[in-house]
Amino acid sequence: MAGEGEVLGEDTRRIVVLVSGRGSNLMALHAAISGHEAGGVACGVRARIAAVVANRECAALVWAREHQIATRLVDESRLSDRADFDVQLGEAVASFAPDLVVMAGFLRIVSASFLQLFDGRILNIHPSLLPAFRGLHTHRKALGAGVLLHGATVHWVSAELDAGPILGQAVVAVGECDDEHALAARVLRMEHRLLPLVVRRVLEQLPPAGVLPSPREAATAQAPCWPPILPRILLVEDALVAHRDARP
Ligand code: GRF
Repeated sequence: MAGEGEVLGEDTRRIVVLVSGRGSNLMALHAAISGHEAGGVACGVRARIAAVVANRECAALVWAREHQIATRLVDESRLSDRADFDVQLGEAVASFAPDLVVMAGFLRIVSASFLQLFDGRILNIHPSLLPAFRGLHTHRKALGAGVLLHGATVHWVSAELDAGPILGQAVVAVGECDDEHALAARVLRMEHRLLPLVVRRVLEQLPPAGVLPSPREAATAQAPCWPPILPRILLVEDALVAHRDARP
């Protein structure tokens, strides 16, 4: 795995992962990219996690350091001014020249300036079937709403929270006896399969960062639109069919 300063092949795509917590999606992506399968799905593209960037000290950051992945902490507790934080976050991420930015449990809303910096190159994984249950406590909300299906979504990040174009979804059945904890665990297992699949699909289509059309070019009819419309990925929990058949 690439550490800071390591020379990567020119065709190796650079991913920066933004985190705030335990980092299980980071680990799943790392495993898939490194060729150790995550939930049976290897990433299958030449890519590296160029860096892990966090807004607070967290388990994901510790794990990245232990795995010789470059890290940056843009400590929100020391940056009371939101604009300062946004500038520093943008600089930290840009310093790793990412082709793709993956928000994997990053508990912070990014600013318009950050979006502009990496426009069309930021993904987020969210633990619900968007557009249902945006924001926090999605599993509690799903149980409260009495839905039969729940899951996770990977989407492009846009200015509106949890609302960018959807790239993939993973579906689980909500069991009669599910509590928040059990449901969260099943959704998380699916997240670990979904994220590498979507990252692979995006990287297969993504032009290297250097040749990304400018916003002005992208707005003209001649230039390709970005982000592209990609075939979306649907994953369904194995147990779902059996679960469905068991119900009257
Ligand atoms: C995941 O459920 C992800 O969908 C959400 O935050 C959680 C992060 O978990 N955005 P982890 O840090 O990847 O374990």
